[in-house]
Amino acid sequence: MSEAVRASIAGGSGYVGGELLRLLLDHPCIEVAQVASRSAAGEGVRFTHPNLRSRGELTFVHPDELEPCDLLFLALPHGEAMAQIDRLTGLAPRIVDLSADFRLRDAAEYERWYGRPHAAPAWLERFVYGLPELEREALRGAQHASGVGCNATATILALLALASDDGRDLVDWSRGVTVEVKVGSSEGGSRASDASHHPVRSGAVRSFAPTGHRHTAEVEQALRSHGVDTAVHLSATAVEMVRGVLATGHVFVREGVGERNIYRAFRARLRDEPFVRLVKEKRGLYRYPEPKLLAGSNFAEVGFELDERSGRCVLLAAIDNLMKGAAGSAVQAVNLMLGWDETLGLGFPGLHPV
Ligand SMILES: NC(=O)c1ccc[n+]([C@@H]2O[C@H](COP(=O)([O-])OP(=O)(O)OC[C@H]3O[C@@H](n4cnc5c(N)ncnc54)[C@H](OP(=O)(O)O)[C@@H]3O)[C@@H](O)[C@H]2O)c1
Repeated sequence: MSEAVRASIAGGSGYVGGELLRLLLDHPCIEVAQVASRSAAGEGVRFTHPNLRSRGELTFVHPDELEPCDLLFLALPHGEAMAQIDRLTGLAPRIVDLSADFRLRDAAEYERWYGRPHAAPAWLERFVYGLPELEREALRGAQHASGVGCNATATILALLALASDDGRDLVDWSRGVTVEVKVGSSEGGSRASDASHHPVRSGAVRSFAPTGHRHTAEVEQALRSHGVDTAVHLSATAVEMVRGVLATGHVFVREGVGERNIYRAFRARLRDEPFVRLVKEKRGLYRYPEPKLLAGSNFAEVGFELDERSGRCVLLAAIDNLMKGAAGSAVQAVNLMLGWDETLGLGFPGLHPV
């Protein structure tokens, strides 16, 4: 193996930064160079990420002290990466930005969904949308990749098989796609807010974006890239989980389409995907995708069920938002960017029970 790639993390004290660090410390071809945080600069990383105690004595540096490295992960709040992109890209030839800043290809679309003009529109074309299941070939050798919204990840993976060559003609796309995502509290990041206060958040089943969820734009963009031009109707509900997203989608199939056609499309599309498992058990408790079983892992589970009476096909996808929805997919994308085995450092399963 050639020399290790030296990787740094900006936004290293956050939830996504912590998950990136957990993965990078065990990655066989990566050496962690620096981990940055403003509030924790100078402190041992173990105080913020106690699960990583004894995994090297790393200390946070201030973001202004980040030095040139081979690969830089940006796990910053939305808006920060695009505001500083020239400085940040000067630090490393390869960048993966986990925020929403470089997910959309069109600056006007960005402004429509995020309510402000994009600060670095010239950079939008230079970032590859970082979902390996969608952009595998474009990621190979790429220098800049975006992350993917966690709810967008679950939604796109739920739709992936039917939007692909073997499934596209099975669906009546003119009827649109309706998706509900149920999300855990870690989606909101590590900074406390009124909405994350324990008495308020605990036990909640709270609809927080019945319409207008920003990830809708990513999902429509992903479907268009598959030749599917359809309206996506996305709703989001916060539920009692720390990690996890469950996407439940509804499409209508064309006359004469049965379970077997859909099953074949799923099998054909997912056969070679290392991290997407089709779950369709006939018995037992775990007959459908369930986020809990994926906690801590980069695996996604997808499934479906057809209501033959109405032609409604229910599509399901479960992920861990901090892993397949953020850090895990980012490392998978890096494996492709650097020409390594796509599964390097990511093959471990989730926890059970948790
Ligand atoms: N949570 C998820 O499930 C999830 C999933 C997919 C994508 N994402 C995206 O990933 C990014 C990180 O999310 P997160 O959940 O890890 O958020 P988080 O827990 O709030 O972490 C944000 C990090 O950014 C740092 N930071 C904040 N403002 C900064 C600034 N102005 N300049 C430099 N550093 C700053 C914070 O540390 P200091 O304040 O100490 O500097 C912290 O380390 C976000 O863009 C988020 O949308 C999150």
